[in-house]
Amino acid sequence: MRKVTRAVFPVAGLGTRFLPATKAMPKELLPIIDKPIIQYAVEEAIAAGITDLVFITGRTKRAIEDHFDRNLELEAALEAKGKDDILELVRGIIPSGVNCVFIRQPEALGLGHAVLCAAPVVGNEPFAVLLADDFMTGDVLPTEALCDAYAERGRSVISVSEVPGSEVSKYGIISTSGTVGGLMEVTGIIEKPALSDAPSNLASVGRYVFGAEIFDVLRGQRPGFGGEIQLADAINTLAERGDVLAQRLTGRRYDCGSKFGYLEAIVDAALEHDEYAERFRGLMKDRLVP
Ligand code: G1P
Repeated sequence: MRKVTRAVFPVAGLGTRFLPATKAMPKELLPIIDKPIIQYAVEEAIAAGITDLVFITGRTKRAIEDHFDRNLELEAALEAKGKDDILELVRGIIPSGVNCVFIRQPEALGLGHAVLCAAPVVGNEPFAVLLADDFMTGDVLPTEALCDAYAERGRSVISVSEVPGSEVSKYGIISTSGTVGGLMEVTGIIEKPALSDAPSNLASVGRYVFGAEIFDVLRGQRPGFGGEIQLADAINTLAERGDVLAQRLTGRRYDCGSKFGYLEAIVDAALEHDEYAERFRGLMKDRLVP
């Protein structure tokens, strides 16, 4: 089976929920302490063996391109000051052998449309999709698990996680017909259903691996929920053909597209921080215990 070496990062969204912070800065560059959210997703992809990163960007997103490019002036300044550890950290953001490609999505026509914009670069290869808003932690991160599952089974596979009934209308919700070898057979997916229409409480959570056939589905697809070309609708078409599997998330997921989820991610990262964990724990106790 084919190894997955390409990943698509749709990063054209406006980030209105984080205004005014995101007026001039892409929401994907909001940091969890000192590392931008998008860099975590990129590291997750690289750890899974991905070597070609395709970013689907929009106006106001140039800073993402700069973040993943060399900054020779900064590097020279750090070198001159003998700050070798920081220099290494800056140079290592994109390891050698990994390529970045940036494609503009001219209009915000939906997540499915954003993914379709990657077709000229991805070609006829399988590829991962990572939504950076979904920040993942754990021993095995979902992109690696999905790539392994794809390599073994040769079918598109998506990460899912149970969500409370009150939240099903925020996600693509799947229906399944059973489990084979730890993976669920997906029979359909509905984008952001009302609770009464939700086929389950298993939500798609921002990590996917697709065969290139999804591009053909997206090309012929009409607008769906919210008048947008939805990725979930294309997954639904593949699922109706029996071509989609789902894998349950094993680690933790933070919805960094919401303020509270972002706050949770920062607090947990601080509690595990190499340098500050102990001080931060002390600070929390001090604030919380009367
Ligand atoms: C997108 C997808 C949805 C998925 C969700 C995961 O929605 O359209 O199917 O469940 O990401 O985070 P968004 O959060 O961009 O509205």
